[in-house]
Amino acid sequence: MKYLILQHPGHNRVYYNVADKLALAELKLASKKLSVDCINIDIAEIKNIRYLSLETESILNDDDIQILSRLSFVFALFILDEKDGHECLVPIAQHEHQYLDNKISSLLKYPGKTNELFTKMMINVALLASDFNYSDSIKMLDPVAGKGTTLFEAGVYGFDAYGIELESKSVHETLIFFKKYLQTERIKHQASKNQIYGPNKHEAIMMDKFEFANNKEDFKNPDLVKTLGIVNGNSTHAFKYFKKPMFNLIVGDLPYGIAHGNVKDKKSASKTRNPSDLLDECLPEWSKVLKKGGVIVMAWNSFIVGRNRLSDTFKTHGLEVLSEAPFNEFEHMVDRSIKRDIIVAKKN
Ligand SMILES: C[S@@+](CC[C@H](N)C(=O)[O-])C[C@H]1O[C@@H](n2cnc3c(N)ncnc32)[C@H](O)[C@@H]1O
Repeated sequence: MKYLILQHPGHNRVYYNVADKLALAELKLASKKLSVDCINIDIAEIKNIRYLSLETESILNDDDIQILSRLSFVFALFILDEKDGHECLVPIAQHEHQYLDNKISSLLKYPGKTNELFTKMMINVALLASDFNYSDSIKMLDPVAGKGTTLFEAGVYGFDAYGIELESKSVHETLIFFKKYLQTERIKHQASKNQIYGPNKHEAIMMDKFEFANNKEDFKNPDLVKTLGIVNGNSTHAFKYFKKPMFNLIVGDLPYGIAHGNVKDKKSASKTRNPSDLLDECLPEWSKVLKKGGVIVMAWNSFIVGRNRLSDTFKTHGLEVLSEAPFNEFEHMVDRSIKRDIIVAKKN
């Protein structure tokens, strides 16, 4: 069987030159979770249109189509057939999986935003590399949450999503936006604000939390209620905030040392341009809040620190860095000052 995938047009626009490379790497990773062996995962050109293609010995089942439907770049899915000596593409219905509508993470535009399709890809890579599946009830943390792109993408997949963000302005804007979104879309929800850390009220670290469900009935059942929570705090204290290994995935886009520095200390506002310094401080806490079999995926600017140095930082903190193909095939230029890559590390 030969399957062809038409790439999301937005994906092509954003990473014009590298979209294929990233999509191929994501597809190769996903192919390992399919029920059948895949060969020849590649780019195919038919009548001047480029597709991603993969071949299998037998037909893909529903679970396989579900995995493919969730990939960040997938726009349309076809199986190649032959009729009267002509090749023809037969469309395959994709699996409906969106809990929150996909549009949620593309509504807001701001400097320093991580591209939403790239973010979706990082979440997929994390899940596909972990011991968990889409059918598990997934809790994800973005410890450098900015204005929430990762949290919203996690919401599209129906995951519980938590974020930590140092800058109160970003947290405030995310909360305002998400509340308005839930109201506009008439999604049943409840908002709360609780102290999760701090010796007293003045030094309190608060978590703003939304609990929501797509309909009234689901909202009554705690197992079906989804959560999006944001902590205005410092990621170096992740374990103090969450207190147990509750996350299946930790996914984020580290500061690039361009628009934002990574502020190590809220009071001194000292800035470091090196993501490995931030990771050195944060990883002991991040690994404590990550479940066994869970995975961390971080994007960073490899102009600032190389892959080997960053890998060593993860290894020092007892995490296994997944470095074989396709995990090492995601590096790409974003602009002249940012060469972006992702690092994938697992807690065994
Ligand atoms: C590249 S931005 C993330 C952008 C985000 N993915 C989005 O699309 O909005 C990195 C964020 O990390 C935050 N940050 C840096 N150091 C931090 C720390 N120690 N704890 C929490 N957040 C931190 C910065 O304030 C910045 O908002």
